[in-house]
Amino acid sequence: MENSYRQTYHACVPSGWSNDPNGMIYYNGEYHLFYQHYPYKTQWGIMHWGHFTSKDMVKWENQPVALTPDEEYEAVCGCCSGSAIELDGKMVLIYTAAQPDLQRQCLAWSEDGIHFTKDPANPILRADDLHPEVSIKDFRDPFVFRKNGHFYMLAGAKLLDPPYKYSVRPGTGSWGAGATNLDPTDINPSNPPFASGAGLDSGDGFGNLVLCRSDDLYHWSYIGRLVRRVDNLPEQFYQLLGAYECPSYFELDGTEVVLSSPQNFVGEGKSYQNVHASTYMTGKLNFDTGHFSIDSMGEVDYGFDFYAEQAMNTPDGRVVMIAWKEMWDRAFPTQSEGWAGTYTLPRELHIKDGKLVQQPVAALKNYRTNPVTCKDFSVSDGAVQREGVEGSTIELNLMLKPGTARKSGVKLFQGTHHETLVYYDAAEGVMVFDRTRSGKDTGGRDRDKYRRYCPVEDASSIQLQCYLDVSSVEVFVDGGLAVMTGNVFPDFDEIGVSFFAEGGEAVFEQVEKFDLMVK
Ligand code: FRU
Repeated sequence: MENSYRQTYHACVPSGWSNDPNGMIYYNGEYHLFYQHYPYKTQWGIMHWGHFTSKDMVKWENQPVALTPDEEYEAVCGCCSGSAIELDGKMVLIYTAAQPDLQRQCLAWSEDGIHFTKDPANPILRADDLHPEVSIKDFRDPFVFRKNGHFYMLAGAKLLDPPYKYSVRPGTGSWGAGATNLDPTDINPSNPPFASGAGLDSGDGFGNLVLCRSDDLYHWSYIGRLVRRVDNLPEQFYQLLGAYECPSYFELDGTEVVLSSPQNFVGEGKSYQNVHASTYMTGKLNFDTGHFSIDSMGEVDYGFDFYAEQAMNTPDGRVVMIAWKEMWDRAFPTQSEGWAGTYTLPRELHIKDGKLVQQPVAALKNYRTNPVTCKDFSVSDGAVQREGVEGSTIELNLMLKPGTARKSGVKLFQGTHHETLVYYDAAEGVMVFDRTRSGKDTGGRDRDKYRRYCPVEDASSIQLQCYLDVSSVEVFVDGGLAVMTGNVFPDFDEIGVSFFAEGGEAVFEQVEKFDLMVK
């Protein structure tokens, strides 16, 4: 057994640091997944774009670094997050060139999907080109897509109050704070009148999402902000003390969906427990005003380690999402191994009754080996193991009938010292992912450090799919109506699985286990 937390069927940075997935695209017969990367240390540093390719989004190959921050306009913070499109046979990356307190959008072009050339016209889009309500300090993570013959860009931003250009106070952006090398000559003094006058229904200076339009990727006009008070969202969505980072937009099952990751989101009760959240909104995007009128919304993943997700359309009509399977403001135990940064399984998305439904891409099934199925069994006040059901790189599927048990579920990565619990808590009526005793502590400043909760559809019968990968747990509940994701760091020989019930009897039906071997 290899003594390493490196995961086998999840994309992991080869060495150094990585965060957000970027530029997901199918191009020239392969899937491309770029990522925020600092090759020289296991902490965040001036951003490069790392690069993986894959035929099926399960087995990833490392490619050379795609973007290196070697231009003056990228100095200090580098090539930050963005997206990719194909245009005239070329792949175009659209990314944020970030300096402390100055964020602008850039293009890089490739004819082979491997080597990229930055556009001489960079930066092609500055907040100052658009509308003075968009802060030049927080305007990032462009997601570019085509609609009605135009290019649209959805970006995370902070919006200023009138009179807008109140000042350029160094160090007040939501990250990169403290640095002061803003070059005032870089601010476009002409401030062209804004496109439509739309988007001015609340000038509160908080985080928001903005929509821009272009016909050539070089000239952009501002359309407006997405999040508006008319939608009666909980107040924290309007008073976000950060940006809505890393948005995606797509149409799916006849519904329009926006994903984003609101920074510093203050959750309540059992929901939105992480310091930074990820949300989906379904509704209608008004391409003339930017307003997204919301029909439904929710947390994308109820677990610990999930942020900055990005979605893409595949040529065969699917929408697939991958997230950074980590969280800011936590410890990264893999740093001692020389790397930090993992990604979720690629998840195919659907919308059912306004809710986001996620399933690992079907290609993952091609890597199943050594199946073990167990007869239905019950457990009362205790824990049992099943022969052949254990491992650290497995898929475990079952139907849980909590019956009379107060708590019932599975113990994963179980050994002498540790265990990770996934169970139904009947008193609370929720599934729980408990990593109190999972192994190395990742600390953090979350409200609840060790437990995450998600709803179930029908408490009498709960479907669970658990994907274990060395130091990773992803639990899909009720066919993916809720998902909980988190990394765990047990001892390397702790690979036990058991089924438990407390305070009554529970039944475990249709238990099947596969090893997942990605060679
Ligand atoms: C989100 C984020 C993005 C930014 C990138 C920098 O995790 O803060 O908004 O572009 O990371 O690495």
